[in-house]
Amino acid sequence: MKTLIRGGRVLDPESGYDKIADIMIDDNVVVEIAENISDEDADSVIDASGDYVMPGFVDLHAHLREPGFEHKETIRTGTRAAARGGFTTICCMPNTRPVMDNVEIIKYVIEKAEDVSSVNVLPVAAVTAAEEGEYLTDFDALKDAGAVAVSEDINTVMDSRVARQAMRLAAEVDIPVFAHCEDKSLAKRGVMNAGNRAKELGFYGILDSAEETMVARDLILAKNTGARLHVCHVTTKDSAELIKFAKEKGLPVTCEVTAHHLILTDNDIDGSDADFKICPPLRDKDDVEGLRRALADGVIDCICTDHAPHHKTEKDRGFLEAPFGASALETTVSLIWSELVEKGVISPIQMAEKMSLNPAKVLRLDKGVLQAGRIADITIIDPNDKYVIDSTKFASLGKNTPFEGREVKGSVKYTIVAGKVVYAHKDGNETIVDKDIAKL
Ligand code: DOR
Ligand code: ZN
Ligand code: ZN
Repeated sequence: MKTLIRGGRVLDPESGYDKIADIMIDDNVVVEIAENISDEDADSVIDASGDYVMPGFVDLHAHLREPGFEHKETIRTGTRAAARGGFTTICCMPNTRPVMDNVEIIKYVIEKAEDVSSVNVLPVAAVTAAEEGEYLTDFDALKDAGAVAVSEDINTVMDSRVARQAMRLAAEVDIPVFAHCEDKSLAKRGVMNAGNRAKELGFYGILDSAEETMVARDLILAKNTGARLHVCHVTTKDSAELIKFAKEKGLPVTCEVTAHHLILTDNDIDGSDADFKICPPLRDKDDVEGLRRALADGVIDCICTDHAPHHKTEKDRGFLEAPFGASALETTVSLIWSELVEKGVISPIQMAEKMSLNPAKVLRLDKGVLQAGRIADITIIDPNDKYVIDSTKFASLGKNTPFEGREVKGSVKYTIVAGKVVYAHKDGNETIVDKDIAKL
């Protein structure tokens, strides 16, 4: 089965290739990238003229909620959202119920994803049993079962002795640690960024230092143990400065940022809409500017979604009581395109670097490139398509987006996983291709 992608602007962030070209896919592999490939032996042709063709996006940070919170999201709905959002591979976080702290649950998630999903799902295992911060999980067995990293996400390991043991073990087992850096005692009761806006609204704030002290601690522990540390969703300019310092010292540290932290500030919060309640919180203008600089300079390696779907009844509890998080798999690409690429903060090839190549490198995956001989995971973007974000159209069960009603430019036109089209958006019609409906 041969597919020809014709006439798109093909970007490969590894080699720097950036040309209008054709791509021939044979079965699951890219066999040729060149100008004017004949369509004679192609079984199907995708017209990509005017579009950007990038290596399939890899999201290091999504919450799929299954098992345990299927009212928020399931592996099936979350991976359909990934396909619709242009992601060919996503990592899912372990704060499920039960927590992904043992081999059986890791295997369950992998097998379920194999059954119901047409995108790749890579589970992240918990650092400690039940994410209670006390007893380390069996990193070696979890890695053997298919876990690609360990993380406690929002349940930051507060005990520095446990955090150090975890990093020592991670270094020994050679598995990366994804750290949501937030000191719980400093963040206590906080629901948004500590600053003037929180004062105006009368809400408890979360200090910058809640994040920065933990970033500093974890960088020091990584230096001390040799662990491969990946700092999750950086939100302050000084966190980025700390990471820059560590990188300059040669530490094997990487980090990520979300679209919402690159675009929104605490001034966008009116106190009534809990879709703006995110952890770590939306910061101020200075931080947004600092994060954008750090992204463009290469201090921030990856753009992730931190897709955190919640049920409407949960977000409707009001700003103080609602859970933290935003549904983001289906908005990230268009937001990054409109706000960062179109506005010249990063180039299209940097977008591919931050969303495909670098996340793949963090996990040492054989992905994130668009080259002959490599797997045909591809995302095609129409840079001129303008539309309004409308959560009722989401494939995700989580309709909780702070970007509802926002006009964006640049949409996902095709998502291709191992040579197979799993999402297509053509002539106003959208199709998400399910893996195997019979098994559902
Ligand atoms: O906003 C967030 N939501 N931040 C996290 O770290 C966790 C996530 C969730 O699981 O809902
Ligand atoms: Zn987090
Ligand atoms: Zn998260």
